[in-house]
Amino acid sequence: MKPILNIAGLNAFIAGQQVIEDVSFSVPATGITALLGRNGVGKTSTIKAIIGLIGRTGTVELDGQRIEKEETHRIIRRGVGYVPEDREVFSKLTVAENLKLAERDAHPRRQLVEELFPDLVKRSGQLAGTLSGGQQQMVSLARALLNENKVLLIDEPTKGLAPKIVQEVADTLAQAAATVPILLVEQNLQVVRQLADGAVVLSGGRVAHTADSAADFLADEDLTRRLLGVHDDGAGAAAPAAGSGAGEPAPEVAR
Ligand SMILES: Nc1ncnc2c1ncn2[C@@H]1O[C@H](COP(=O)(O)OP(=O)(O)O)[C@@H](O)[C@H]1O
Ligand SMILES: [Mg+2]
Repeated sequence: MKPILNIAGLNAFIAGQQVIEDVSFSVPATGITALLGRNGVGKTSTIKAIIGLIGRTGTVELDGQRIEKEETHRIIRRGVGYVPEDREVFSKLTVAENLKLAERDAHPRRQLVEELFPDLVKRSGQLAGTLSGGQQQMVSLARALLNENKVLLIDEPTKGLAPKIVQEVADTLAQAAATVPILLVEQNLQVVRQLADGAVVLSGGRVAHTADSAADFLADEDLTRRLLGVHDDGAGAAAPAAGSGAGEPAPEVAR
């Protein structure tokens, strides 16, 4: 099957500094591909480079079409959904208003979103800034799912969430992946094990490993220790310490 994203020789720069170098990989047209690596290796930069949020060279093909010369808004309109690392909900707007603002298509998939996020339906009148971190993550995911996208780029959706909420987000991602292919940055290896089909591992801004099976990669103790600094024993003990506080409102984002 043709990949939905094909990235070749991608270099990206922030403030004149090169942050990723010669990154090449492809994202299959179905399922979840995990983008892994220690902090600071260039995962977020890779995603931002794909959609042109930071300067880049190299080639990016979306569904067989070159998009690397296009501006971000055009790339997004071609059907790339982006769920940023810090969620970026509009804190002074209600849940319903946040979702309304995200509607890009003539026929937004409101029914799908209502089925996937019943809690958001209940909270539609609540200001997004007063939601918990997990609920804000759901708003961020819901916004991306409202539109008919060819691929979703999702950056650390479970970061800082309590274990129970992590599982809720993971379950939602699994359901979402049945409708759209996903490139997922995720540090929680239990979540990766549960969700990911393939995996791409970055180290020092370069691709250090590519695996058709994320589970095979995670089972390789030497490799995971070297590339991630931890080994996932399958029981979750090796998952990086996630922050707690998912039950409390997240700090307000100034918009
Ligand atoms: N706004 C920024 N200004 C300067 N350097 C940055 C900025 N954002 C990221 N970097 C640098 O780019 C590199 C890759 O960062 P990033 O893509 O955020 O890594 P990851 O998402 O894997 O943690 C790091 O060395 C980081 O210090
Ligand atoms: Mg990051």
